[in-house]
Amino acid sequence: MPRTGGSRKKTKDAKQAAIFQPPASKGAKAYVKNLAEYEAIYKKSLENLEKFWGERAKQLLTWSKPWTKTLDYDFDEPRIEWFAGGKLNASVNCLDRHIVGARRNKVALIWQGDPEDDTRMWTYQMLYDRVCRCANALKNVGVRKGDRVVLYLPMIPEMVVAMLACTRIGAVHVQVFAGFSAASVQSRIQDCEAKVVITADGLFRAGRVIPLKANMDEALKDCPTVRRVIVVNRANMSTTMKERRDIWWRDLMADRSLNANFPAVQMDAEDLLFILYTSGSTGKPKGVMHSTGGYLTYAAYTMQYVFNHRDDDVHWCTADVGWITGHTYGVYGPLLLGGTTMMFEGGPRWPDPDRFWQIVEKYRVNTFYTAPTAIRTLIREGDEWLDRYDLSSLRVLGSVGEPIGPETWHWYHDKVGGGAIPLVDTWWQTETGGIMISPLPYATPLKPGSATRPLPGIDADLLREDGTQAGVGEEAHLVIRKPWPGMIRGIFRDAEKFKENYFSRFPGCYLSGDGAKRDEDGYFWLLGRLDDVINVSGHRFSTAEMEAAFNAHPAVAESSVVGMPHQLKGEAIYAFVRLNVDEKATEQLRADLRKWVRREIGPIATPEYIQFADSLPKTRSGKIIRRILRKIVSGQVDELGDLTALSDHGVIDRLIEECERLTGMSAIGRA
Ligand code: WTA
Repeated sequence: MPRTGGSRKKTKDAKQAAIFQPPASKGAKAYVKNLAEYEAIYKKSLENLEKFWGERAKQLLTWSKPWTKTLDYDFDEPRIEWFAGGKLNASVNCLDRHIVGARRNKVALIWQGDPEDDTRMWTYQMLYDRVCRCANALKNVGVRKGDRVVLYLPMIPEMVVAMLACTRIGAVHVQVFAGFSAASVQSRIQDCEAKVVITADGLFRAGRVIPLKANMDEALKDCPTVRRVIVVNRANMSTTMKERRDIWWRDLMADRSLNANFPAVQMDAEDLLFILYTSGSTGKPKGVMHSTGGYLTYAAYTMQYVFNHRDDDVHWCTADVGWITGHTYGVYGPLLLGGTTMMFEGGPRWPDPDRFWQIVEKYRVNTFYTAPTAIRTLIREGDEWLDRYDLSSLRVLGSVGEPIGPETWHWYHDKVGGGAIPLVDTWWQTETGGIMISPLPYATPLKPGSATRPLPGIDADLLREDGTQAGVGEEAHLVIRKPWPGMIRGIFRDAEKFKENYFSRFPGCYLSGDGAKRDEDGYFWLLGRLDDVINVSGHRFSTAEMEAAFNAHPAVAESSVVGMPHQLKGEAIYAFVRLNVDEKATEQLRADLRKWVRREIGPIATPEYIQFADSLPKTRSGKIIRRILRKIVSGQVDELGDLTALSDHGVIDRLIEECERLTGMSAIGRA
């Protein structure tokens, strides 16, 4: 593989991990050319945040009316306002401004279906026409500015059309990942009071067809706000259509009276662009709200800097558009910059575990963004699946969603990247809108396992429990001290939770909920969640939400759910369940409970282990001590810590014994 640049330099300290120097920037092609330049930009950005972000917003977006105040905020209230007085439209920024020039016939979207021969390529003009027609169709079924439209769709191009059509009208898109259950969709539709939902008959997964509309029908049994259901025919499944409510996408779009032009509604910078639900430390998913001007500025900026986006790039973000990563780096980031984005319907292992690499070669992908869990799965399949492909088009590799351990990092960097191209380990969250801590490909020396340093404009810090700044190497709370344009603007209809979750623990700071430490070079090392959130294969689950699902089962008295270290998934779901006195702990019941939770939340929430317990460790006031359970399932039974608060000491030994029996591993094997 002919590659240039990238050198490996061992540091003097043998114990310290290797540092990988970035490849030479090849002159003016890099946005940030070296470390000194990064440091200078970083310093300047924090000295004058408003100037820094004002310049970005002006450069990267097209505004129909300029803003009058760049930033107004108060983290105590909390209130965050960027670019007040400014007006713009998201779809205009993703489409209209590109079709008036040389990009009109450029490919905006490459779509690769699960079946190899199923592909589509749409130019900017083609995407524009479809978005306008869809916007007209949505308007015809009553969608207006501010209305919520739930998208429950597989990874098909109609998803992008629907998103942008919503933004053209000023409606708010609310994606629900297609792997979620009917009950999960229902609670989200109810919470956001959606007027219209868009779904598909079914979806393809690993060559099989899985019904989707049937889930939606189940969900809609108790969603009085939904007036219309638009159904994309993806899988030619026989589908029940409810008269006057359901309509095929194809029929809706086939109406030739629909104009392929739709004057975009100009939105205030702070108008809601979308809501995306995510799990927090409470039982109910939170509707994270993102703004139009701020989010778009941040998506474009991070896309440009972190991937060092070039106009002729093919960018592939493997994340489902139903998650924030797919929103920002599958759709908005690349389209705002007039790039070519690649969308893939399938998974990495079907029909063979070479699918990713085959697609990279087929479309000559330049920037590739995926999750450690996918890489770990592919490592296990063996190098031969990758060795047969020419991956020399790749220029930047990215990782997101969970800590990428050094072993996975090395394989990704050395095998996929040929050891010669930058691997950006990007830390961020649904709430941050875009990447916050990450290397810049031509500027930041890499340390495997570290997300390195905050992007310019991001004032990240680490605080001890008492709110003082943590020292080098100390594990602490990751906070952001100053606002950034892409940040969450609120939790839908829950101002109190918004304040409590993010701004009350350390006044004046945004609390991420993640733990991290910083080394002597100012590099951040992420350590996982400090709150009751589990990260399974890069997907967030709230332990409280899972417990609520278990507790709703008639046989269950109480439950406690914790994350267990898992080789492939990063973390797996481990549930402790105490049954009602007259219930028998049978294998049948265990299987029923597993099925129950899958139905309540979705197949992605399948518990790895369900352990029956006659008692759970509790404080004298009756609170379950989750910390102890977490230690037990990670095999750290010698580090259970202070047990004086415990009401019944015998419970611990019984729990450990049963955990070892269930997992079939000694404590050491599990850790
Ligand atoms: C975790 C995904 C370590 C973290 C964009 C965060 C990471 C949560 C990384 C957000 C990373 C994300 N290293 N941990 N590079 N990226 N996380 O909202 O715990 O689905 O709080 O957003 O994923 O997950 P979310």
